[in-house]
Amino acid sequence: MGRAIELPGENPTFKAHPKMTFRRGAYAYLVETVGDKTTYTVTDGTNTLSLPIRWSFGVGGQTWILEYQGNLYDSLVSYYPAIDGLDITMGDERITPHTLEEAMGRELKQGETKACFGCHATNAVIDRKLTLESMQLGVTCEHCHVGANAHLLDALQGEFASVPPKLRKLSTEDISNFCGQCHRTWEAVLRGHFEGEINVRFQPYRLANSKCFDGADPRISCLACHDPHQDVVRQDSSYDPKCLNCHAASTQPASAAARAGAPPCPVAKANCVSCHMPKVNLPGGHLAFTDHQIRVVKPGEPYPN
Ligand code: HEC
Ligand code: HEC
Ligand code: HEC
Ligand code: HEC
Ligand code: HEC
Ligand code: HEC
Repeated sequence: MGRAIELPGENPTFKAHPKMTFRRGAYAYLVETVGDKTTYTVTDGTNTLSLPIRWSFGVGGQTWILEYQGNLYDSLVSYYPAIDGLDITMGDERITPHTLEEAMGRELKQGETKACFGCHATNAVIDRKLTLESMQLGVTCEHCHVGANAHLLDALQGEFASVPPKLRKLSTEDISNFCGQCHRTWEAVLRGHFEGEINVRFQPYRLANSKCFDGADPRISCLACHDPHQDVVRQDSSYDPKCLNCHAASTQPASAAARAGAPPCPVAKANCVSCHMPKVNLPGGHLAFTDHQIRVVKPGEPYPN
């Protein structure tokens, strides 16, 4: 999460792809990197608009923030690792650009800019004002550990006792809401009417809809499976012990720790998440997310909302 925003000079995608091109309708795009600078160019064959990329949002899939005539825009074209190239930014598929400016990107309204940087950076919004000059890129310690700078000093000296105890004491439900500030809470998803595959990226919502979820049981909290200080572990078998904390392994009698009512699997003994937490593709885009609504997946069954 520390890399949720990057400057062009530090972005490995630009280093690996110094020249990326794309064409949609009458417009041709070029994203070109020379040294520390990356330029985003769109042309209709007659006129050309060329702007420096100010920030990249996202580590895998990337959308770029451009500045044009004093306003911020998000790029109409994004990079997707799944196709190792450019395509229209997710959510913008229905935009039919009529001018070069519209083909370049979408102007961010003030509230929107605050929201983007509020989730992807630290100290970007102070007293409800956008403070891009003083923000730190990415989700840093301070964002989750309020007053973390003082604690960090202690931590550097090997003194961890002063870590704000608040986070450790939160219930499973409260952790979901804490992470949900950015990953979206159950309520936010309902209020936003995010229906269908689009909501698979909102883990607190999906997890709460799973039969495994119990807001008072720490074995199903985000922190049971993830360490927010590290990259996500992409190895199915490493999650088995988490499931077996509640589900009895089929060969053994239920352990004392197994939760009442959590049956064993009649099918397999390992790699639980490979079948019960399937990857779901987002519509239109080239991004897949892991469904946190842990369940028996039946072939041909529609996506459960
Ligand atoms: C301040 C906003 C914020 C909060 C709070 C937050 N996250 Fe994130 N998280 C992000 C952003 C932004 C990304 C995406 C980074 C990217 O891929 O560009 C992310 C990515 C992740 C990833 C994927 C990392 C990877 O290696 O691909 C995991 C796992 C994760 N967050 C878990 C958590 C958990 C667990 C919590 C609660 C303890 C939490 N997050 C709280 C903003 C936040
Ligand atoms: C409520 C917090 C929040 C807001 C507001 C937000 N993001 Fe994100 N964004 C996230 C999180 C969390 C992720 C990590 C992926 C995930 O789990 O959905 C993410 C992922 C991304 C990615 C990586 C590709 C992808 O879609 O997963 C891009 C690009 C991105 N955001 C751009 C933006 C832009 C541009 C804005 C403003 C228009 C914005 N985000 C607003 C929280 C937020
Ligand atoms: C996305 C939110 C998030 C970010 C960013 C974050 N932390 Fe944490 N941190 C947590 C949570 C949640 C806990 C409680 C974890 C637990 O109890 O397992 C925690 C616990 C800790 C602990 C106590 C560990 C323990 O075992 O009790 C230390 C020390 C710590 N964080 C330091 C840092 C430092 C230093 C950074 C920046 C490099 C940082 N954190 C960034 C969420 C975050
Ligand atoms: C029972 C275990 C478990 C719990 C609980 C859990 N996750 Fe995950 N999470 C996973 C697995 C498995 C993956 C996929 C890892 C992989 O790709 O191999 C994942 C992936 C992610 C990712 C990366 C994006 C993606 O979809 O692949 C994010 C972000 C994330 N989880 C956030 C959360 C948040 C926030 C919570 C709490 C609401 C949470 N997770 C609770 C198991 C869990
Ligand atoms: C906190 C304890 C707990 C954890 C951790 C947990 N589960 Fe469950 N799970 C349950 C309980 C209890 C039920 C039964 C709920 C019911 O039938 O009402 C259940 C139900 C299920 C079901 C049947 C769901 C359905 O739709 O019928 C599957 C499949 C499942 N769990 C798989 C998993 C996998 C895979 C993991 C690890 C990624 C996991 N569970 C982690 C407690 C847990
Ligand atoms: C190869 C895919 C696969 C793997 C791997 C797998 N399961 Fe299953 N699981 C299934 C299928 C299919 C069913 C539904 C069986 C049925 O209804 O006849 C099921 C059913 C279940 C149920 C519901 C049982 C009931 O009585 O309602 C639970 C709980 C469960 N699995 C947990 C797990 C756990 C925990 C693991 C890892 C130790 C795991 N599964 C590994 C495919 C798998």
